[in-house]
Amino acid sequence: MAQPQPKQSGDGPRHVAIIMDGNGRWATQRGRPRLFGHQAGARRVREIVEACPDLGVDYLTVFAFSTENWKRTQSEVAGLMSLFRRYITREAKALKANDVCVRFIGDRVRLDAKLVSMMDELEALTANCRSVNLTIAINYGGRDEVARATKRLARDVALGKLDPEAVDEETLPKYLDTCVLPDPDLVIRTSGEARISNFLLWQSAYAEYEFVDTLWPDFSAEEFRKTVGGFGTRDRRYGAVRA
Ligand code: IPE
Ligand code: IPE
Ligand code: MG
Repeated sequence: MAQPQPKQSGDGPRHVAIIMDGNGRWATQRGRPRLFGHQAGARRVREIVEACPDLGVDYLTVFAFSTENWKRTQSEVAGLMSLFRRYITREAKALKANDVCVRFIGDRVRLDAKLVSMMDELEALTANCRSVNLTIAINYGGRDEVARATKRLARDVALGKLDPEAVDEETLPKYLDTCVLPDPDLVIRTSGEARISNFLLWQSAYAEYEFVDTLWPDFSAEEFRKTVGGFGTRDRRYGAVRA
């Protein structure tokens, strides 16, 4: 399948990806446990999704849990996993009613079976929705994704389905978790950190970045609109020189 072409500068971003960071600090500032921040962060997602259609954002991808986040305490990890289950239960109806097509990326092997079946059900429930494509990254790492893709690609070579000489930069993305998504045009990270922490490494080769100081639970639809609005002034050159 042909990869959708990136938009030219002057247009709004078609695909926005967000590294939703700062929940822990937000809670700590209030003298509350980190999980309190994660709960507030999860509640933020709805208004950001709902802001997308008016902004012309067809694809929204959010980073919810990285392959490195297992290094946190057992109680924070368990709290996050239970929050993901509650999020799906609570939001499924509204997502469907808002015509939001939900997909999950990341390695499901390490996730508990109950959560995985809820993810599958939500994907099936919203498969025909057309308003916004919401992709939620859980147990996602860009390097892990490329490694898993390479494994599948190597299998196809071993089976004789793929000629190694035919492998080019169009081939590998077909094996990535994001194979049906266009590349992100804009990646936003909240909380003031200016790093990408293993998010969409391959896909973001030509993304524009916005690092904002706001902690994720405070990131409002209004700030999202402003951040997305700033994208139109970027001159995306893709290595070429404009006349
Ligand atoms: C982002 O917030 C959510 C996850 C990584 C799960 P953090 O939990 O990283 O919040 P800070 O960075 O510690 O403030
Ligand atoms: C990135 O945030 C992952 C998510 C937002 C899910 P982290 O808080 O895990 O990243 P680092 O540790 O600051 O790089
Ligand atoms: Mg963080």
